[in-house]
Parts: sequence; C-alpha cells; structure tokens
Amino acid sequence: MRMYDIIEDKRNGRELSKEEIEFFVKGYTDGTIPDYQASAFCMAVYFKGMTEKETVILTESMANSGDTVDLSMFGSLSADKHSTGGVGDKTSLIVAPIAASLGAKVAKMSGRGLGHTGGTVDKLESIPGYKTTLSEDEFLSQVEKTGIAIIGQSGNLTPADKKLYALRDVTATVDSIPLIVSSIMSKKIAAGSKNIVLDVKCGSGAFMKTLKDAEILANEMVKIGNGCGRNTAALITDMDRPLGSAVGNSLEVIEAVKVLKGEVENDLKEVCLSLAAKLISLVLSLSYEESLKRVTDALESGKAYCKMKEWISAQGGDAAFIDNTELFEKAEYSYEILSDSDGYISAMDTEKIGLSSVILGAGRSSKEDKIDFSAGIIIDKKTGDKIKKGEKIATLFTNNETSLQDAEKTYLSALTVSAEEPEEKPLIYKIIG
Ligand code: URA
Repeated sequence: MRMYDIIEDKRNGRELSKEEIEFFVKGYTDGTIPDYQASAFCMAVYFKGMTEKETVILTESMANSGDTVDLSMFGSLSADKHSTGGVGDKTSLIVAPIAASLGAKVAKMSGRGLGHTGGTVDKLESIPGYKTTLSEDEFLSQVEKTGIAIIGQSGNLTPADKKLYALRDVTATVDSIPLIVSSIMSKKIAAGSKNIVLDVKCGSGAFMKTLKDAEILANEMVKIGNGCGRNTAALITDMDRPLGSAVGNSLEVIEAVKVLKGEVENDLKEVCLSLAAKLISLVLSLSYEESLKRVTDALESGKAYCKMKEWISAQGGDAAFIDNTELFEKAEYSYEILSDSDGYISAMDTEKIGLSSVILGAGRSSKEDKIDFSAGIIIDKKTGDKIKKGEKIATLFTNNETSLQDAEKTYLSALTVSAEEPEEKPLIYKIIG
C-alpha cells in the first residue's frame, strides 16, 4: 500500500477502505509517513469530506493509536461528558457529582485551558491537595468507590491526534468536520466510557460561532460516537455570554459549590441539570423527563453536594475548602468596572471576556505561563440586563496589578450597550440523541 495512492484516491473523492485509513493513522503515528503526505491527506479530506463509515474508522484507528482505558468493570454505568469549550464553563464540576450521586461511574479525563477558554484540570488544581494525576489502578479504584475521578489526559492517549492536531493547526485544515469529529471523539473513545454527553457550545465564546455549524458538528459527533459503539448524545448550549457569573479557576470552583449547595439559581444551574439529565437518561435508560426529576432531586436534596466533597477528598483535595469557600486564597488586587452609560447590555463578545481573564492571570498566554488560581472576573451584569451609568457591572481579580488596565479595556470592548432591551435568546438550543 502506498500513501501516494491513498491521497490521490481521497483527492478524487473515493471512499477509503478500513485498511487504507488504518495504514495512514499507523504510519503517521510511527513516523513512516512524513508530514508533507499527511498534510496533503488532510487537505484532500478538507475538500472532499469523509463518509460516516470512513469517519468511524478514522476515529477508531486514532483512539487505538495509544493507551486506552478499560472501563468494562463498570458495565453500562460508565459515563463521560465533554464540552467543546467556553468561558465560565464549570459544568463538569457540577454534572459529575450529580450523575455519580445517582449511580453513574464518572471516569473522566479533562483538559487544561486553551486560548480564551478555561479547562477543568486547571480549575481542580486550584483546590489545595487535589491530584490531577493518578495511576490507572488509583483512577479505577476511586471510580469504583466514589463514582467519580477526574484527572488530566494521560501522556500516551491518542498520539495520532496529538500529531495530526499540531499539523492541522499549521496547514489550514483545523475546520474540517470529519477531522474535528475524529479528533474529539477519538479521545472520548480511548477514555473508555459507554455513555457520553457532549456539550457543544455555540456563539461568540465558542469554537462554533453559529447554530448551523454547531448543529452540524453535534449531529456528526453523535453519529460517530454511536457508530463506535458508545451511547452518545449532545446538547447545543449558548456561549454568546459567559456561563454563570464567575470566570477564573478558584472563582469558578466557588460558583460550582454554590450551585451544589443550592445557593444560586442561574443559567449555569439550568445547563448543568440538562446535561446531567441527558447523561443519566443514557446511563440508566430512562426518559429525559424522569432523569430530569432525579437530577433535580439529587441537587436539591444535597446528595450531589455530599458526593462532590467525597470525590474531592478521595482525590487528595482539602474538602474544608468546599465546606467553606472563604478559605480559598483571595487575589491581592480587585477592581470594580463601572458602566459608563445607561441602557441594556445587548451583546457580550464572550471570547474577549475570556481574554480579559487570561490577561488577569487566569489562563496562559504561552505554554510555560503559570496560572494565578485566584485571578478572574465576577460578572454582575450580563446580556439582557439593564444598567445605569456608574453602576458596577463586573469585578476583576488579580495578583498582577499592572494587568488591570488592559483587562478592563478588553472587558469593556466586549460589551454592546443599547437603548432597547434585546430579545431573549435560548440557553439550550437543542438536544440531539
Ligand atoms: N478540539 C479537538 O480536540 N480537536 C479539534 O479538532 C477541534 C477541537
């Protein structure tokens, strides 16, 4: 078999065989197929696409290119959730304990912040003592005992994706649906869960800016997940405004705890209940409505909150910080942003709000940057809210005083204020699967 012929066939729009796709993935991972041929292949896929069958094979080959996690000991109860990334998205910290308190076995590998979006692993590391690395035995035994373990991605999970993603990034082939789907789903398949709920974010703070694109991606990911033998569903949720009111690592953990303690009613709680309900409906084979009743009860009875404390202590974290969130270290500097006009916030460029929190130290501008766990933003006024000149709309937190001015400028440039109240937009656009 020759890579040249595979590229030529794809360029001419022919459906590739299992052997051809596996030849490419294996050869590119072990270095026998060079970058220039893999680039040409990606570009051919970009223009000609892939059939569902080809995408399933590509996803499975990538999933099998490195370590895989065997969760078969949990039967049909293993559960995972994935978000395509957003600002203020701390849903895993809430959905995982809700689902585990109802019997799901949540075995999850999460990522770090990327660009303007935050990452669950960084958030969890803001809890003193929390270990984001566990051996496979420790990981499995914690899932067995407490129903949850969330760790960082293991070094050798989907090496094919690691190489291909870096290549796509520099060859203008990132935004190809079969390549995105196989990249995301291969990691989920390798992580082993039988049930997967995908939170596909849509809007100015998301990878997919329009509902149409988010729907295409969500439908494809559900098809491919199911095609790989996993029960897969997706929610398309709004990311045209940050989720909840906290952006930044320990600030987001604190907000998640407040939701689990029943102290806040907000958009974050609503999205988490829907995600948890969808996940539980897959795990326990229940209707969405029945699952929603159960997850609402788990949250309101405090069962999910107790599960969070159990999980955090099992993973080495100091649960006293969950009991009393005042213990989290506070940033040295805080700064209130005041509105300079009357009106309504009619739009929030959510990517810019994420960037403002990165400027404060909550994310990384380069790979080597260290995160300031207490840095971030508490947002008081969001899209649709009425504001008055001089009123506080957000507070910035940082340990780097010199970042405040730039962060404020970036935050304000994200807001559109208008005289008319904007039309209310849905928080959950669609549930697929
Ligand atoms: N996230 C991924 O993991 N892969 C993609 O291709 C795009 C987003």
